[in-house]
Amino acid sequence: MTSYRGNPDAVRALVQNDRVHRDLYISQELFELEQEHFFANTWNYVGHESQIPKAGDYLSEQIAGRPLIVVRHTDGTVRAMMNRCAHKGSRLVSAPCGNTGKFFRCPYHAWTFKTDGSLLAIPLKNGYEGTRLHECEASKGLTTLSNVRSHRGFIFVKINDAGPDFEDYFGDSLSSIDNMADRSPEGELEIAGGCLRFVHQCNWKMFVENLNDTMHPMVAHESSAGTAKRMWADKPADAPKPMAVEQFVPFMSDYKFFDDMGIRTYDNGHSFTGVNFSIHSAYSAIPEYDQAMKARYGQERTAQILGMARHNTVYYPNLTIKGAIQAIRVVKPISVDKTLIESWTFRLKGAPPELLQRTAMYNRLINSPFSVVGHDDLQAYRGIQAGLHASGNEWVSLHRNYDAAELEGGEITTGGTNELPMRNQYRSWARYMTETM
Ligand code: FES
Ligand SMILES: [Fe+2]
Repeated sequence: MTSYRGNPDAVRALVQNDRVHRDLYISQELFELEQEHFFANTWNYVGHESQIPKAGDYLSEQIAGRPLIVVRHTDGTVRAMMNRCAHKGSRLVSAPCGNTGKFFRCPYHAWTFKTDGSLLAIPLKNGYEGTRLHECEASKGLTTLSNVRSHRGFIFVKINDAGPDFEDYFGDSLSSIDNMADRSPEGELEIAGGCLRFVHQCNWKMFVENLNDTMHPMVAHESSAGTAKRMWADKPADAPKPMAVEQFVPFMSDYKFFDDMGIRTYDNGHSFTGVNFSIHSAYSAIPEYDQAMKARYGQERTAQILGMARHNTVYYPNLTIKGAIQAIRVVKPISVDKTLIESWTFRLKGAPPELLQRTAMYNRLINSPFSVVGHDDLQAYRGIQAGLHASGNEWVSLHRNYDAAELEGGEITTGGTNELPMRNQYRSWARYMTETM
């Protein structure tokens, strides 16, 4: 067994131009190094501003193995800090979300901190007179993150200071988030309802690479979407389709459909499927929604916004969105072979309720633990997680449509069945994994 700790060359050697080593998915040591380095060096999604509208509203999260608080400060800005009391290290908040009022109060000895992390008060403070407290970290309050950015309400953080800033990291891939928000007649999104949590028995990377894997739906989803397609096959072409059928059947489109759909990749591992159209393009129109959009944006701009029906956009590494259906999935690695996927539903502000019904149905049918489609993928991931322990072949093939010109990076638009998005993800993985090793 190769040891990867302190050995960046060995880590880089796992990612070749057209294939990756199985240790990426099954090595416990690499999983720990990812927490330490990779996730700390990349921009990660931590929540949406609509979840913390009022001062004192907070979310508690874990990124790169570090416990974090994301909070709305009294001045209205979003701040992020370590969920670690400056005194003896207790977690300050343990609920996933809540409102802390004007300050955080540690549950252990009641030190208090303002929502910008600064130290507010210590009980019996005179006990520290003549000590070195004022010279050390404890007196400076909570450790705050300097890399916190919000784009159309989507909040991202980066733990480490090194590496690209937010704009350079995501570049034009942010157009997918823009399109999702533009689909609101008010130009704004808000999280609707709770979260659907689904534990996947696989390494987190398997889930993320599958999002732009268009060679699997017609095979892996034959049993679910294929059944829906057969049930609908003998209906007249003009029969009104139930929403569930509209959502299921396109998964069974043929190879040509997925190839013509197109893929675009960006530096740093981001990509989306659906450059030209997608499985979301043929949903039936909702007249009141079209009217509300035209009233806000005019005919031409509305056609532009709704004509952009991108399928999955991967904001590498931990956010994947479906703008055309207003659903997102957030990736939370638990262990080397276990990943929590959180699915959230968005309301388009100012849109009629049918839009939210459509999103909620999609999430139940496709993304939730009681989905029939999601289980096809889960079964595949489990199978890979087991199969990779076999001997005789230690490499995972990503050769499909490989072209050496892609190594130059930048924005690339190509056929929808190209495995480029996965190769692109792993090149970024190698870079950010080794940047601080
Ligand atoms: S650990 Fe927080 S006040 Fe003591
Ligand atoms: Fe799938």
